Amino acid sequence: MTTNTFASRALRLIAATGVALTASASMSFADSAGEGLSEGSMIHARSGKEIYETVCQACHLAEGKGAVGAGYYPPLANNETLEEASYPIYVLLHGLKGMPAVGKMMDDEQIANVVGYIRTNFGNDYKEPVTAQDVADSRD
Ligand code: HEC
Repeated sequence: MTTNTFASRALRLIAATGVALTASASMSFADSAGEGLSEGSMIHARSGKEIYETVCQACHLAEGKGAVGAGYYPPLANNETLEEASYPIYVLLHGLKGMPAVGKMMDDEQIANVVGYIRTNFGNDYKEPVTAQDVADSRD
């Protein structure tokens, strides 16, 4: 069934993330969960679209339509919680229940890019730009 496919894709992503963290950031992660995490980018994608497709889409699916099955992956399409950019930034930096803090694999600019992307696609029309500085400010 497709629901199992979503779940296993999500698990593979988490496993792959674990490998990437061990390979390139074990030093940072050995630090207390704080400054050490704030800078390194562990994914190559830079544009919001590429980051969405390589990181977020595994759970939130193409076009941000989300999935309900083995787990609940909320749609990002037409999602009013994206109106305040600080909310998706917070979710990426800190995680939210079933969602890992995938922003820890990204630098400020990558987070700004992907947040800008989801806020201006999939039926969302929140045009104020999101900057790396906005992300840096919410890391405090
Ligand atoms: C491993 C799966 C997974 C990945 C990868 C993932 N998410 Fe999520 N995300 C979730 C789940 C599960 C929730 C719902 C958490 C809850 O409320 O229980 C969620 C919630 C969210 C929310 C809050 C939505 C709302 O309506 O409150 C946002 C925003 C979000 N994710 C954005 C992203 C972005 C952007 C990416 C990629 C950079 C991403 N997510 C990657 C699983 C994931």
